[in-house]
Amino acid sequence: MSKMGKVISFINMKGGVGKTTLCIGMGEYLANYMDKKILFIDVDPQFNTTQTLLDLLNLEDEYMNEYRDNKSIRKLFQTQETISHKLAFPEPSEIIISSNDYPNIHLICGNIDLIFDDNQNDGSKSRRIKKFIKDFALKEKYDYIFIDCPPTISFYTDAALKASDFYIVPNRIDRYSILGIKLLKQVIDRLKFDEDLNLHPLGIVYTMVDNMNRQKVQKLRETFESSDIIKEIDLFDSFTHLVNDLTVGYQGNIASRYKKSEDDIKNICIEFLTKIEGRETE
Ligand SMILES: Nc1ncnc2c1ncn2[C@@H]1O[C@H](COP(=O)(O)OP(=O)(O)O)[C@@H](O)[C@H]1O
Ligand SMILES: [Mg+2]
Repeated sequence: MSKMGKVISFINMKGGVGKTTLCIGMGEYLANYMDKKILFIDVDPQFNTTQTLLDLLNLEDEYMNEYRDNKSIRKLFQTQETISHKLAFPEPSEIIISSNDYPNIHLICGNIDLIFDDNQNDGSKSRRIKKFIKDFALKEKYDYIFIDCPPTISFYTDAALKASDFYIVPNRIDRYSILGIKLLKQVIDRLKFDEDLNLHPLGIVYTMVDNMNRQKVQKLRETFESSDIIKEIDLFDSFTHLVNDLTVGYQGNIASRYKKSEDDIKNICIEFLTKIEGRETE
């Protein structure tokens, strides 16, 4: 690996728009079919990325017995003191999990217990993911670090964005999504201003499109894309179709496992690499 890795947040203020499915689908495809080293970080207390990847890596029992309490994102936000009362992070090996079956996929588990933690009142803690990545030079170890965000703007989305170089906005085409994305952009721009972040939108990815050629969809899309804010965030040409198997299929919610969603995710990954490599030479 020659270039520095990049950190990408998958974010939208809405739930159920396909953030997690896109994050896993892209990360798994890049890792298993394009030989990229991927670190997933799950900061969503709903920890859906974690559940899918634990299933893939066959580590569900380990999660219940060990990781939940001792090896998750929560460790980064808890104050760790050494015997000499210095603050210290856990070593990456203490919180990053992996399996020999999928050497390119590493994970920092999410944790439902995050909802009980009172991190909100300590703004400096929201720089912990960024600092952890920097202190242990994780951008030299991974091609891409993908952060799956919760659907509400909170301490955890702040922490994810502060650590990120780019963000991707998975979005369903519907009447209300423009307003949601305008608000999201405002929140992110404010954070960029206050924190001097070097954070860029990589684009919106349309998700769960039933039929892009339907007139109704075309109309909504036209209205959506005529808004200036959308031009600023940019758009992926590739999108994901609504593929029922991804919701209910016997092989779970990993896009590469079903023909139709495999084609979608492949195209998105190719476009992703083109976009991101284009940015590096800017
Ligand atoms: N392309 C798709 N086709 C069909 N179902 C999808 C697709 N993407 C996501 N889903 C389903 O939609 C629901 C919400 O997706 P999810 O990725 O969990 O969204 P979010 O993380 O934004 O809440 C899940 O049940 C998921 O399986
Ligand atoms: Mg999710």
